[in-house]
Amino acid sequence: MNQRELRQQLMERFPRERRYLLPALHYVQHELGHLPEFALQTVGWHLHIPASEVFGAATSYSELRIEKPGAHIVRVCTGLACALNGAQAVLDAVRHEVATAGGTPPDDSVTLEESPCLFACGVAPVMEADGALHGRATLEQARGLVAEYRHAQDERPSGAPMESRVPKT
Ligand code: FES
Repeated sequence: MNQRELRQQLMERFPRERRYLLPALHYVQHELGHLPEFALQTVGWHLHIPASEVFGAATSYSELRIEKPGAHIVRVCTGLACALNGAQAVLDAVRHEVATAGGTPPDDSVTLEESPCLFACGVAPVMEADGALHGRATLEQARGLVAEYRHAQDERPSGAPMESRVPKT
């Protein structure tokens, strides 16, 4: 989607009021996979909000990203419940696997992100891989997921939904 098309999409979907800033950013990220500079400028133009303010919003929420992600996105929760149940070890395991794979870039296959809460605190520690939640995540599971992605041949677009794997409490 180029800037002209994005302008058109925003005009069709969002009234030109600043209260639509977050919905518009979420929409654009859903469409583009991230929020490149031209998209931030276009949202600001549409909503009459300075680009600096749009950039501030885009960088203040952990679910929004201005960097282009890898083909797969792994998020590890480091919120309190998860921190008390071994999240740091899970995070370290994923980080090590991603680093071994070359990270993003140059490998461009897995993007690792931390999250303040993935809203599944009852099954902490929790990680999310391409939208699928994994409760009571283990180190083996974390390593295995990244290794699986490294060797996967399918190029499923990032953000595409997968079946949730949160265990029943
Ligand atoms: S603190 Fe980790 S899911 Fe809520």
